[in-house]
Amino acid sequence: MKINERKMAAVILAAGRGTRMKSERPKVLHPIAGLPMAMFPARLARELGCDPAVLVVGHGAAAVRQKLAEECVLFAHQEDQLGTGHALLCAEPQLRDFTGTLLLLCGDVPLLSRETLERLLAYHETQGAAVTVLTTELIDPHGYGRIVRDGEEVLRIVEEKDASLKEKALREINTGIYAFEAPFVFEVLRTVGRDNAQGEYYLTDVVAAARSVGRKVCALAAADPEEAMGINDRVQLAAASAAMRRRINNALMRAGVTLVDPETTYIEPQVEVGTDTLIHPGVHLRGATRIGGGCTIEPGVMVNDCAVGERVHLKAGSVLEGSEVGDECAIGPMAHLRPGTVLAGNNKLGNFVETKKAFIGRGSQASHLTYIGDAEVGTGVNIGCGTITCNYDGVNKHKTVIEDDVFVGSDTQFVAPVKIGRGSLIGAGSTITKDVPPDSLALSRCEQKIIEGWAAKKRKSREKK
Ligand code: UD1
Ligand code: CA
Repeated sequence: MKINERKMAAVILAAGRGTRMKSERPKVLHPIAGLPMAMFPARLARELGCDPAVLVVGHGAAAVRQKLAEECVLFAHQEDQLGTGHALLCAEPQLRDFTGTLLLLCGDVPLLSRETLERLLAYHETQGAAVTVLTTELIDPHGYGRIVRDGEEVLRIVEEKDASLKEKALREINTGIYAFEAPFVFEVLRTVGRDNAQGEYYLTDVVAAARSVGRKVCALAAADPEEAMGINDRVQLAAASAAMRRRINNALMRAGVTLVDPETTYIEPQVEVGTDTLIHPGVHLRGATRIGGGCTIEPGVMVNDCAVGERVHLKAGSVLEGSEVGDECAIGPMAHLRPGTVLAGNNKLGNFVETKKAFIGRGSQASHLTYIGDAEVGTGVNIGCGTITCNYDGVNKHKTVIEDDVFVGSDTQFVAPVKIGRGSLIGAGSTITKDVPPDSLALSRCEQKIIEGWAAKKRKSREKK
């Protein structure tokens, strides 16, 4: 088999302006569960082994290309958005030598499942059809193209704007997803005109055109109408986001994760969560995050691109980004772990503790009001309230090293670069500017003065005036 004669290819239409979104951003880049909506059909095409997968871009092309560069093998450009039929024709050069089944997906139909597409492809092939359209029945079909049938036979698809009253009453709609025989679909598309309410080249007209040259047209109904949801405005965007959330959250709950209120728990599709983890409302888990088993995640926690171990307690309002958290840590409330934080395990970071590019050894803790940045902290270290690493001199960042078993008194500043030897003790309120050898006491505050009776005298002199 020659490289360009593989059996299945895909075209994903994503060039439209998306006028109804009323947005500067191209419609297909609006996120659903944190990912640009066109990513979902693009990933499906790849999972199904479509090669090539061609994404048709036009409106906001540069941004769409950039966001989907990893997902799609090829891009085709549609200069003017003259309709869905015209959009598919724009992908023809990329599919010039392709013979086989062409799967047509839409960048604005993100909820389709792989199972449904596999059924569509199998049906198309066993029926020997030239065109198979995926349909579904909707209670409110408004806005969608309607499937006009004569008994079992599919005659044509009529768009809402071109439909008669009788056709508008039809509840079987076009999902905008098809299996086509290629290259036949391109030949027949060239015969389609634009004499319709929108003056566009409609891809839907391929149905009637294929029939008129004696080719077989089939329709397969998707079992779950939710899968067919097309996103045209922000109300539909929110509805699709909620549907996606339900899917992700149901899968997690079935796998042994407790969600106190799944409606208000926001977990992106790539996130993994271990069994017996308990997640409270208002939690956001994003990006390439992994959470171990037996954890508790309290309300309002946000975790982005983190690896979190087992039995970790993330307390309310904490934000974790690009960090690694070992087993049995307790974080927050209101702690902020910034990128490059690594907690070895069994650590406690309390309220208003911020870390950045910091390695913190096993069992070390900072319970309140602390900033640790560009630091390496050993095991069994206790960092008192209000401790700060002064890591930035206005030009460069410098490192603080605190060895094992150091005790840092409250309100200490470490002016980096500085190194504290193992087992040392830093007196409260110190500004540490020089390295401290192991097992020492370091103190930098000036000695306390006491003037007895001073305050009483002052009061008296005020009273006289
Ligand atoms: C289309 C179908 C309609 C179907 C509905 C399902 C046509 C004529 N109508 O209508 O029957 O029920 O989808 O959601 O096909 N696009 C381009 N270039 C263009 C125009 C559109 O790439 O010139 C892309 C859009 O980016 C979008 C997709 O094609 O991803 C569908 O376009 P849209 O304008 O949303 O079509 P609908 O009116 O929803
Ligand atoms: Ca649409």
